[in-house]
Amino acid sequence: MDIRMGQKQDAVIFARLHKQEISQGFLSTLPTAFLQQLYEAILTFPGGVVVAACEGTKVIGFVAGVSSASDFYRYFFRNYMISGFFVLLKRLGNIGTIRRIIEVLLYPKKEHHVSEAELLTIAVAHEYQGKGVAGKMLPAFVEGMKQQHITTFKVLVGEELAHAIRFYEKSGFQFLRNTSVHGNKVSRVYIYDIH
Ligand SMILES: CC(C)(COP(=O)(O)OP(=O)(O)OC[C@H]1O[C@@H](n2cnc3c(N)ncnc32)[C@H](O)[C@@H]1OP(=O)(O)O)[C@@H](O)C(=O)NCCC(=O)NCCS
Repeated sequence: MDIRMGQKQDAVIFARLHKQEISQGFLSTLPTAFLQQLYEAILTFPGGVVVAACEGTKVIGFVAGVSSASDFYRYFFRNYMISGFFVLLKRLGNIGTIRRIIEVLLYPKKEHHVSEAELLTIAVAHEYQGKGVAGKMLPAFVEGMKQQHITTFKVLVGEELAHAIRFYEKSGFQFLRNTSVHGNKVSRVYIYDIH
């Protein structure tokens, strides 16, 4: 297995892995083409840190984050929202979708006092889970964050994602508190301190 930095052309694979492996959560309900744009934005954002795990040429997992969530969402809005808008056009008639997009864009403000830097997604293809892939990607991701002069980053994880919670707790993330991005749905906020 190889660990490497993500590249712009990986965006579509990351989008598919996101949809396949993260069944819970609002982003997974959006079209793959929208998620592809989101990942392309993370990969081109100057403060983006993306690591991929590969078996030969096949991408089997990735971890994506940003040095500042609010700067990133501003960057996404400026550079990708018009094309994203067309991808979402059919769904934008749905008031629930619009409300949730606004909630995603606004939550960095709500959580800004914790840490602006954030691990946004980690996912490993189902058939490779539980084999240490995420454990191997994490140090490369932390190194990427260090190069962005980040000393602490956060991650929000849905309470129902038991494997992810086990992974974070085992890997040195510290539970901070519960929060909610959408309505009453509880997410946990974890912090990772880079020594
Ligand atoms: C969370 C996730 C990225 C972990 O990746 P992974 O490569 O499977 O993790 P590792 O093999 O490095 O596992 C480390 C620990 O995580 C937990 N874990 C991860 N996958 C597991 C699984 N399928 N079954 C049981 N425990 C699991 C275990 O505690 C494991 O340690 P252990 O084997 O010593 O008990 C992966 O399970 C995944 O993609 N899940 C779906 C996507 C998701 O929920 N992402 C988080 C969004 S915030």
